[in-house]
Amino acid sequence: MHIMSAMSAIPAIHVAIVGAGPSGFYAAEALLRSGLSVRVDMIERLPTPFGLVRSGVAPDHPKLKQAILVYDRIARTPGFNFFGNVQVGRDITVAELRATHHAVVFACGAETDRRMGVPGEDLPRSHTATEFVGWFNGHPDYRDRTFDLSQETVAIVGQGNVAADVCRILAKPVDELRSTDIAEHAFDALARSQVREIHVIGRRGPVQAKFTTKELRELGEIAGCATLADAADLVLNAESETELMDRNNLNGLGNIALFRAFAVRKPEVGQRAIRFRFHLNPMALVGDGQVEKLILTRTRLEGPPFVQVARPTDEPVELDCGLVFRSIGYRSVPIPGLPFDDTLGTVPHTGGRVRAGAVTLPGLYVSGWLKRGPTGIIGTNRADSVETVESLLADLSKGCDQEKRGAETVGELLERRGVRVFDYQNWSMLDTAEISRGKPKGKPREKFTRIDEMLAASAGRGNEAGRSFGSALALASQWKGSSHPNTPVETMDTMAEEASDADSIAVRPESQISIKTGASPNRQEIERRREIVRQLFNDFWVSAEDKPGTFAERLNRAEGHINEQLAARGETWQLDAASRKQLGLPPSKTV
Ligand SMILES: Cc1cc2nc3c(=O)[nH]c(=O)nc-3n(C[C@H](O)[C@H](O)[C@H](O)COP(=O)(O)OP(=O)(O)OC[C@H]3O[C@@H](n4cnc5c(N)ncnc54)[C@H](O)[C@@H]3O)c2cc1C
Ligand SMILES: NC(=O)c1ccc[n+]([C@@H]2O[C@H](COP(=O)([O-])OP(=O)(O)OC[C@H]3O[C@@H](n4cnc5c(N)ncnc54)[C@H](OP(=O)(O)O)[C@@H]3O)[C@@H](O)[C@H]2O)c1
Repeated sequence: MHIMSAMSAIPAIHVAIVGAGPSGFYAAEALLRSGLSVRVDMIERLPTPFGLVRSGVAPDHPKLKQAILVYDRIARTPGFNFFGNVQVGRDITVAELRATHHAVVFACGAETDRRMGVPGEDLPRSHTATEFVGWFNGHPDYRDRTFDLSQETVAIVGQGNVAADVCRILAKPVDELRSTDIAEHAFDALARSQVREIHVIGRRGPVQAKFTTKELRELGEIAGCATLADAADLVLNAESETELMDRNNLNGLGNIALFRAFAVRKPEVGQRAIRFRFHLNPMALVGDGQVEKLILTRTRLEGPPFVQVARPTDEPVELDCGLVFRSIGYRSVPIPGLPFDDTLGTVPHTGGRVRAGAVTLPGLYVSGWLKRGPTGIIGTNRADSVETVESLLADLSKGCDQEKRGAETVGELLERRGVRVFDYQNWSMLDTAEISRGKPKGKPREKFTRIDEMLAASAGRGNEAGRSFGSALALASQWKGSSHPNTPVETMDTMAEEASDADSIAVRPESQISIKTGASPNRQEIERRREIVRQLFNDFWVSAEDKPGTFAERLNRAEGHINEQLAARGETWQLDAASRKQLGLPPSKTV
């Protein structure tokens, strides 16, 4: 049955989305663009939207935060409601949302972290990356954490992009963070930091490190910091050589070239140092009441290419260090009333439909990191949410004639419980207030980091800033490299549009390329090509230092660069009109 005819008896379908991060917003976008009469109620436990784009993406990577412009547009679409400061499982139950809405999409991300499971893991001065990242990004949960930055030697366990962020924030001259949106308390603490040596520890080898080349390169370019590796660690076994040469390995060759360059660098006196360490498995953290030493075991790789595991040997290695950050991956938190797979740390699902064992639970869906685990960049969540929404709409097409009141009932319920709902207009006011606070310091914003301050800052709502233009303007200004204090409101949308196009660095190829799920028999190949285009585009766009010419000219150069790289990699296709169409790219010369 067609969805429209299935729903003809009801005025609108009501969908609740739990979580206002990328996956929640991409689900909202897919629903609101479905052409159906849909009302989306987004429920977020914090007063502030945007999930890890606000509280995870590093402050010195402002371009990557431009995804917010896209989300802001989605939030201003008719039919969208924001219920901030409302936690599902505490302020409202899963059962209640099921009763008030035709469907509920859970997009709650991964808010805690994996554990190493070794003695001493919880000693003072041992922290998770989640805490540190949340702290410097002003997440209210971590605002009052303290980190002993008087320590000279720090170990970071894990070699993914989060570890790279943690390392960069510790290693960068603090002046380079001054005009970012870093939380004030973190800036002040980092300004007093005594950290000199940062060991970044991988249990496997350099080929298996999960850094993307762009992030790794950035670690090698920090002013006043020597980035080092030990040549002996870079000798590869045959399996790693095979991994390196695989054409799907987008970062391997770039990373190994950088590690080899780091291995011949010499530290200068007085410089900070980042040391990449490989083949070391953490066994224990020890110290007299607090971390003083990390005990590791040397490992050797075993197994076939791509599934090599780190087998501990008998060779112990001790590292004196006064501060440890575990950056070994995030983990989702169970939501009361929703099934949870404790082993995988995700909600069990089939194509986004929530399952309890083998049984699909009608009306419940999942998306993003809660669905597939804590991997993937912002844009990855778009295809993920599109898949979930396709399942949701297909289910509704089979029958949906029960009228529900969605936001209206939820609003009444929360009011009865005395929950202070923070709506999108409240957020817009807070956004404006943060931007104003940042201005005198030359920062894009000074975040409010306590929930009561956030609620207070928007207390007089309604007199200004009904739309989040401030945010768009701040980001657009950053992109354009200038500020636009007097820009008339009517041109701001265009600027935001342009800025978000520019934002394709992180977002666009995923957010603007649409490949219909299941529409092609070669979907896997199309996804592979799309990923290659995305990576090559990002690499070109970010690395082009002088950025001469108009936006369109740069895009054309990007296309030339992509085709050169494709040829160099022995790919048999090029970015021409046909592949543009196949990849779902616009026909014009815009990537
Ligand atoms: C430190 C870090 C840095 C990153 N940097 C980049 C980067 O530079 N570029 C890039 O492309 N990708 C980056 N990523 C990856 C990117 O942030 C993720 O792919 C993306 O945020 C996942 O989206 P999500 O919506 O699934 O989860 P999230 O972004 O975590 O959003 C989940 C939302 O759900 C809310 N929530 C949770 N539980 C509840 C509940 N019970 N009730 C109501 N609301 C709830 C949370 O408050 C949160 O707002 C980074 C990730 C991390 C951890
Ligand atoms: N700028 C950006 O684009 C950006 C920034 C931040 C994050 N992100 C994305 O966000 C996602 C999450 O990043 P992440 O860094 O948290 O995860 P990740 O990429 O999965 O890296 C986790 C690291 O921890 C190691 N590890 C896991 N368990 C371990 C253990 N028990 N002991 C020792 N080491 C262990 C892993 O090693 P093994 O390989 O051996 O398991 C790996 O090196 C990624 O997709 C990332 O790309 C992107």
